[in-house]
Amino acid sequence: MYETFEELKQSIQNCQKCKLCNNRNNIVFGTGNEHSKVMFIGEGPGADEDMQGIPFVGKAGKLMNMAFEGIGINRKEVYIANIVKCRPPANRNPEDDEVVACLDYLRNQVMLVKPKIIVLLGSVALKNILGKEYGITQSRGKWVEKKGIMYMPTWHPAALLRDESKKIDFWQDLKKVKEKMIEI
Ligand code: URA
Repeated sequence: MYETFEELKQSIQNCQKCKLCNNRNNIVFGTGNEHSKVMFIGEGPGADEDMQGIPFVGKAGKLMNMAFEGIGINRKEVYIANIVKCRPPANRNPEDDEVVACLDYLRNQVMLVKPKIIVLLGSVALKNILGKEYGITQSRGKWVEKKGIMYMPTWHPAALLRDESKKIDFWQDLKKVKEKMIEI
């Protein structure tokens, strides 16, 4: 584990711990306030993120930004990262070996940010952080407390692009996050 973000970022620069390194343009490390109370964790970079090296800048990210604006969450005030830092081909889910190879980076980010709240965006984030026994449909919108951190699982924003009816849930879940941010 690295004690500073600079050291951690440096250590990742030429990562070849899994096969996702073969096709990447950029490692998508994370963005936002490195001392935030709140962290958002997605799945993995898409094409836009891979091109820019920044998480959630594509269509799903724009939708998430709109929700942030509507609810009064400042994107720059939170910290945003992904389960895997390199783009899975054709946006498939990251495979277990890729997650295992990458997850220590995220653990190190969590250790450095020290968030009080972690928002888990979608099933891949939920299952790899809280455990495979969790399902997103049952778990979303409900706080889970573990080792002093409050976790809020919710839909991945890309799911809202496929199914508009999920938007209301997403908005409600983020409102709970906003309330908790004020409270703690
Ligand atoms: N989807 C994710 O899970 N993460 C991103 O950074 C972009 C899209």
